[in-house]
Amino acid sequence: MAAPRHLLAVAVLFTAFASAAAFTDPPDGAYPYSPFPIGLLGLYHTLESPWQLSGWTFQGGDPCGEGGEPGQWRGVFCKGPSVVTINISGFGVGGWLGPDLLKFQSLTKLDMSFNSISGEIPSTLPPNLEYLNLAANKFEGNIPSSLPWLHSLKYLNLSYNRLSGIIGDVFVNMDSLGTIYLHHNEFTGSVILLADLPLSTLNIEKNRFSGYVPGSFQSILELRY
Ligand SMILES: *[C@@H]1O[C@H](CO)[C@@H](O)[C@H](O)[C@H]1NC(C)=O
Ligand SMILES: *[C@@H]1O[C@H](CO)[C@@H](O)[C@H](O)[C@H]1NC(C)=O
Repeated sequence: MAAPRHLLAVAVLFTAFASAAAFTDPPDGAYPYSPFPIGLLGLYHTLESPWQLSGWTFQGGDPCGEGGEPGQWRGVFCKGPSVVTINISGFGVGGWLGPDLLKFQSLTKLDMSFNSISGEIPSTLPPNLEYLNLAANKFEGNIPSSLPWLHSLKYLNLSYNRLSGIIGDVFVNMDSLGTIYLHHNEFTGSVILLADLPLSTLNIEKNRFSGYVPGSFQSILELRY
């Protein structure tokens, strides 16, 4: 019975390869035909491969496929073969964010709040994000001017960081964006460019804004400044 068993092993191996290839189309942060989730590896690297990210590994593997078991990469959530949510809120990780976030084409929710991530918010954010929470970290610099590329963004929480500078027209034409939290940062200048956005919620308190509060803010349901 040795020969059939050997054949079976080959068949299993082949199936494993085939499914790995199927799971790794480029939209999920991976290169085609490679079992390595390149986006996650890059992120793991810039976050300084902390122990809190259990299951994450430089050895690759498919975060959405491996053995059909979900949740092996802590904080990574999939829908079918695609990474749709990364939530490492409160994990207490440090490091910074590199350009690899752009590779998460299917990601709609990114929650990295309550960590010690520093550096600038990269201009290469996942293009299809609907929810972005980077609150309570050590981000500095300004809001990336590429933000309006995130056409689907509905919720943005950048509160409790060290962000600074003048708020330019980064939110203009972001028609889906209804909720912005920018409180507890070091932003300066006028808030006039926030005046005509179709927002339902805006919190900009505890910054260093100057000038007057636009009258149109009165139409915002929940406003703090
Ligand atoms: C992320 O996880 C935290 C803690 O488990 C939870 O409170 C929060 O709602 C989650 N965020 C998202 C976007 O699901
Ligand atoms: C913004 O994020 C911080 C940290 O996650 C959280 O405490 C706060 O409740 C968030 N704001 C809202 C109202 O979602």
